[in-house]
Amino acid sequence: MVRVLFVCLGNICRSPMAEAVFRDMVNKKDLSHEIEVDSAGTAQWHTGKPPHQGTREKLDELYISYEGMTARQISQEDFTGFDYIITMDDQNMENINTEYDISEERVVVRKLMDFVENPREVNVPDPYYTGDFDYTYELVHEACEKLLNYLINKHQLKG
Ligand code: 4NP
Repeated sequence: MVRVLFVCLGNICRSPMAEAVFRDMVNKKDLSHEIEVDSAGTAQWHTGKPPHQGTREKLDELYISYEGMTARQISQEDFTGFDYIITMDDQNMENINTEYDISEERVVVRKLMDFVENPREVNVPDPYYTGDFDYTYELVHEACEKLLNYLINKHQLKG
């Protein structure tokens, strides 16, 4: 099993969108028995809450499920429980590097946009502040496709 955790700041806008979109792609490729997906925030502010209305509306528009998803804060155990921790921006990276000890872990920690060649953005802009959930989705969708292809090749996943 390849375990992937998407991380943003609040775990209500970007990382739940990435979780739902990526899981949908995984399901459509019949890889749900090979890849497990989750998301978390570096902050604990929204623990227990469903995704932000803007994220829900975008996912509803695309018929992508977010059923049962609620926000939680990332914990030290996640760095042993997951194989890949995929962050949305430099601030998430900084928070992880300063608040958790990942030096001994084999987990791969990377920004989502690192999986896109010549990306339009190196950080996924935060729609909590920009209000632009469509643009966030465009970036997340493109990068999730690249991430999935990367994992399929890297781990020789067949589906
Ligand atoms: P997210 O967006 O990190 O993409 O979930 C945010 C959600 C909530 C807050 C900031 C960013 N907040 O300040 O409550």
